[in-house]
Amino acid sequence: MKILKNRWIGLSMIVALAMVLAVGAACSETSDEDESETRGTLYLVDQDWNGQLVTTAVMQILLEQEMDHTVATKFAPADSAPLFIGLEKGDFHFVCCNWPSYSAALLEEYVDADDGAKVERVGPVGITGETGWYVPSYVINGDADRGIDAVAPNLRSVSDLNEYKSVFATSDTGTKGRLLEFTAAWDTKPAERLEAFGADFQEVFAGSEGAALAQVDAAFQRGEPVLTYLWEPHWAHAKYNLVQIEMPDWTSDCYPGGSNYNCGFPTDAVAKLAWPGLKDEFPEAYQFLSRFKMTNQQQNEIVLNLTENDLTVRQAAQAWVDANEAVWRACDP
Ligand SMILES: *[C@@H]1O[C@H](CO)[C@@H](O)[C@H](O)[C@H]1NC(C)=O
Repeated sequence: MKILKNRWIGLSMIVALAMVLAVGAACSETSDEDESETRGTLYLVDQDWNGQLVTTAVMQILLEQEMDHTVATKFAPADSAPLFIGLEKGDFHFVCCNWPSYSAALLEEYVDADDGAKVERVGPVGITGETGWYVPSYVINGDADRGIDAVAPNLRSVSDLNEYKSVFATSDTGTKGRLLEFTAAWDTKPAERLEAFGADFQEVFAGSEGAALAQVDAAFQRGEPVLTYLWEPHWAHAKYNLVQIEMPDWTSDCYPGGSNYNCGFPTDAVAKLAWPGLKDEFPEAYQFLSRFKMTNQQQNEIVLNLTENDLTVRQAAQAWVDANEAVWRACDP
């Protein structure tokens, strides 16, 4: 009876505390001691791009430091079958940043299946993704200060690419222009788009985000032309003056809705996905992760800090958490 009474008092205190925190619109709540002892490890997914890694690190830090959870990360490539299989089985519990247009077929199979969801869509992160092809501004406008001539002055859209294919050609593409891509594992469909645009260009995969950005950086250092796949939000836009090449607008008959590739990329409402067992196994974490939001600007500033100041992902995320308590407490930035 005594135990029961104590538990009841404990519980009402937690409810009262939760109410106090709710007034401050707190996102993270104080954990029940008993629960933190019996709770297992919560596995967040790390992927192969820095915007994803810093967002995951911020979530991990808040779950550990504010909510007393034991958190670890496991790696799964973005938009891959192993990611979705792991989320279905519970090997992974949560992934912060799925770009729907990159994994249309997998979302159809695991999230929007007619026979029920095997992976739960938890809602938007708050980040709006734009994908496209970009060139340095000096390629179009020149840069008098650096003595760089405009080598493609009339380049506006993909229909202008052939006029300048020799400008973008390299030893590995012969007479064709070169389109720098990141990794073949992401479903960006460069070959299909180039063909649909009638552009005599060849896609070349750098292998990773880091390797591709090293090539972009080298081109900037030398003032050389480069045509690269990239997205926003991305720290590269703060560091380099990049101009996006126009593509025909995305419409519903375009990939991934349809099979037309003579189109630009759709805008992505970047989404959170979870193992369906998360809400019962880790209810407080589920509540927190459901409400967690981050803007394009916030994700960019953390990654830019990491890149410019040579920080680790964890250091950059911790610096942001320390400097932005009001933002993450409000949980609706
Ligand atoms: C960047 O990191 C430093 C620590 O190295 C920190 O003082 C600063 O607040 C960080 N900036 C942002 C925007 O997080």
